[in-house]
Amino acid sequence: MDTQRQFDIDFVRSQFPGLQHGWTFFDNAGGSQILKRAVERMTTFLYDKNVQIGGSYDVSQQAAKALMDGRNAAMHLVNASRPEEIVFGSSTTVLLQNLARAMRSQLSAGDEIIVTISDHESNIGPWEGLRDMGVVVRFWPLDATTFELDLADLEPLMSERTKLVCVTHVSNVLGTVNPIAEIAAMVHARGARICVDAVAYAPHRAVDVTAMDVDYYVFSFYKTYGPHYAMMYGKYDHLLELDPLYHFFYGRDKVPGKLEPGNANYELAYSVTGIVDYLCELGARSGATGPTRALILAAFAAITVQENALTDRLLSYLRSRNDCRVIGQTTNRDGGRIPTISFVFEGHNSEDICKAMDDYKIAIRFGDFHARRLGDHVGLPQYNGAVRVSMVHYNTTEEVDRLVAALDAILGRDAPISSKGTI
Ligand SMILES: Cc1ncc(COP(=O)(O)O)c(C=O)c1O
Repeated sequence: MDTQRQFDIDFVRSQFPGLQHGWTFFDNAGGSQILKRAVERMTTFLYDKNVQIGGSYDVSQQAAKALMDGRNAAMHLVNASRPEEIVFGSSTTVLLQNLARAMRSQLSAGDEIIVTISDHESNIGPWEGLRDMGVVVRFWPLDATTFELDLADLEPLMSERTKLVCVTHVSNVLGTVNPIAEIAAMVHARGARICVDAVAYAPHRAVDVTAMDVDYYVFSFYKTYGPHYAMMYGKYDHLLELDPLYHFFYGRDKVPGKLEPGNANYELAYSVTGIVDYLCELGARSGATGPTRALILAAFAAITVQENALTDRLLSYLRSRNDCRVIGQTTNRDGGRIPTISFVFEGHNSEDICKAMDDYKIAIRFGDFHARRLGDHVGLPQYNGAVRVSMVHYNTTEEVDRLVAALDAILGRDAPISSKGTI
């Protein structure tokens, strides 16, 4: 099967103006390229409706509708039940900090929150900040050989005082998809709630907060083909319980406004309609018909096929080099991996590899990617971090081949060997 033709890669790439300048962008987990139509929605808002919402006059009503259109688009994107379940914010970090702040009155000294060592610091630090009120924070360990979070390790950590389990859907270093629905079921059975960081997942797979039965679910649009903006889904009843973060007259029932101090950014929120439009067109081009949600699902099915081809190609090369250690699973077993692939080369400083790659106009990144605790746990400091190649569906197998050729040129094909496998 010719997945690239079926996938219509030419159409896909034509939708991203930033791809037209000759660079290979493999730093998408840092930030993806933005869709032309997301930019167009922003300019439409700014040129035609750029007034404060809440006025009685026509343009103000149009602005309010644009914001609601953005919320509705985000609702479809994640399969929430109602637009009020979408909270907009400037970044995932800020949304999680706000969530932790808005939970204070429902927590008491001795309550417990579980976080994972494989998370980005955005989903650890805000919870650790609650230690000042006596909240106990426990770490769900990660197996440093398999890189998996084992549910059997979570179980003994939970007690009747556990209020929240915070976990990443996919680590932005490891690339493995965690079984969120399964984790949520276990957390709920113990009477706790779950808060998921989906930043590294949302660009790659269809999100279904209803099917997963998550309580809070957060990700950033600037890594999901949009501008620098982010959203948090929360179950409506949970959002009602959260403490207001806005003026005193924004009471508990003002959902989601009480959680968006200073208001949502209208043009950024409206740009989400452009992301969803694009996904719908992609879904329709892959042969799907039906409502928005059906088209979104079809789009991500097509995206998955394309991404699996990229993942398999790069992993196969990395496995063929006996001086390479993949920081994560070395195969894409059951499609359980997204194309964010981190690795180190024995005897090489990761920074040198990335800098050498600049000459090839291939954009990659090294470091711990703000998953500092994970990086330390798997021994990244001795390599000056990992090299991370993070691909999305607009990347091509030809680009992977270009990267492979560049790696061979930079490192030499017959590099000296030490150990093989994973750290
Ligand atoms: C997995 C993950 N979580 C959270 C964040 C933080 O997102 P933001 O920059 O929107 O705060 C990032 C950013 O790289 C990330 O990769």
